[in-house]
Amino acid sequence: MRVCPLSLLPRLSTLEPVDKMEGLPVANHYIMNFNTRDLPRYNTDYVILGSGIAGFFTALLAGRLGAGVTVLTKQSILDSNTDKAQGGIAAVMDNDDSPELHYHDTLRAGAGLCDRGAVRILVNEGPRRVLQLIDMGARFDVEGGRLALTREGAHSCRRILHACGDATGAEIQRVLNNQALAEQNIEVLERHIAIDLLVKDNVCHGVLAYDCETCSLEVFQSRAVVLATGGLGQLYEHSTNPEVATGDGIAMAYRAGAEVMDMEFLQFHPTVLNLPGAPRFLISEAVRGEGAYLRNDRGERFMPGYHELAELAPRDIVVRAILQEIHKGSRGVFLDLSHLDSEMVLRRFPNINRTCLRYGLDITRDMLPVAPAAHYMMGGVKTNYFGETSVERLYACGEVACQGVHGANRLASNSLLDGLVFGGRIVERTAGLWREKAGSWPGFASELPEPAEPVDYHGLRDELKALMSRYVGPLRSREGLEKVLGFMDGYAGLENSAAPTMLAAETRNRLLVSRLVAESALMRTESRGGHFRQDYPVSRNSWQKHIIMRK
Ligand code: SIN
Repeated sequence: MRVCPLSLLPRLSTLEPVDKMEGLPVANHYIMNFNTRDLPRYNTDYVILGSGIAGFFTALLAGRLGAGVTVLTKQSILDSNTDKAQGGIAAVMDNDDSPELHYHDTLRAGAGLCDRGAVRILVNEGPRRVLQLIDMGARFDVEGGRLALTREGAHSCRRILHACGDATGAEIQRVLNNQALAEQNIEVLERHIAIDLLVKDNVCHGVLAYDCETCSLEVFQSRAVVLATGGLGQLYEHSTNPEVATGDGIAMAYRAGAEVMDMEFLQFHPTVLNLPGAPRFLISEAVRGEGAYLRNDRGERFMPGYHELAELAPRDIVVRAILQEIHKGSRGVFLDLSHLDSEMVLRRFPNINRTCLRYGLDITRDMLPVAPAAHYMMGGVKTNYFGETSVERLYACGEVACQGVHGANRLASNSLLDGLVFGGRIVERTAGLWREKAGSWPGFASELPEPAEPVDYHGLRDELKALMSRYVGPLRSREGLEKVLGFMDGYAGLENSAAPTMLAAETRNRLLVSRLVAESALMRTESRGGHFRQDYPVSRNSWQKHIIMRK
């Protein structure tokens, strides 16, 4: 795996001479103290934060047009939600299917809040982007010479492409990693943590980042910054997301003055492995798509009693049904594949089989204990159809972005497609930008005191996770949300201080993003999609609108 220190790549990034900047404006909306005058500054056309499908696909399209692209990634290029995606990627690739059907399925899942224009773009442009991915080398499963398609919840037909049975994301990540590392216009910097966006007069000039190898701050000046930092599942105790998914992109964008939207809508995946001592490993919805049943501890198949689509009902409904069964006294719920053809099960789900076997479970025979876990954020940094945020030269795509394509609840397997389609649109929109003469560099600095009292950031992180899981999970109420917000108020003073360490900065991001979720959830006095209020259990027409927040 190639890790490219910029200093070894003067081709793309030039270390500029330190400017003399008298009277540098000091702004206190940053999270750490710094002065760009004192830091190495690298110059590139695009800085892309994140190396999942959205980040790398955008990087590849831009790099192939001749732009210089620097991708910063928090850990390694294997630590992404993309790499963990199992079920697949939804796209109309079959004559029996149509963009119209995909459009209506997406709208239905979105519970009245999808942006119809964004959905049209997704379903119409999706197939072309998937073909591009295939051209790059992605090998999706085929059957009888045609793409093999599976079904997942709330899809009216089989339209999910998959790879290696149930390791679709890993295959896509493999291809994108290989392509990005081979592309001469792209440099990939692992273990580079973006700290803050450098914004002046609502124009983004670049990124302040921390290089974990050298333990030092660096500045990346660019013509465009693309946020592709993924989601926030790690704000919760149990999540399908990798450790890096702590909502940093949203926190940075919000601090920089960008609008965020739909933060109350979180998708919990109904079925992750729930076995003491085992990781919370995703058991793909495709398992239910191929006919698996959900049973309670009495062995009863309970989903038909909750929804006409039974196990393939929208995820929020399946999650609440599971919680209801547990509330009624069931000691856990279980996925049952034992009635399915075992040869098919092993062929379709080799990765799930391997993992379950490690914990003594035979998926063709045993009941698999499962539970819901935080999975996907429908909201995020508000963008238009071209990934443009409310801050000039700041773009967003993939899970961190919100153009409204998923509404209040994402249709299964639409997320990988979203990363491709809207990442591609950013490059189309900015195709001329990087050919322009670079603007002047205003310089940035921040001077804040350190917190008055020492803070136990590990303790704060864990307490926050517990509160978010208990009160801002699949079931919410005014009382619980106010409790969480009250806890956060106790740390309000931190906002006017500098984070002394990276742990402090990340914990502050968690605190900020958790607050955005909890405040939006308190404000929305109804239930819809991924937001369920026990004290307002039905949808209300007056709430068929978005909550947009801005600092
Ligand atoms: C799954 O395989 O169940 C996850 C797919 C998705 O979240 O779209």
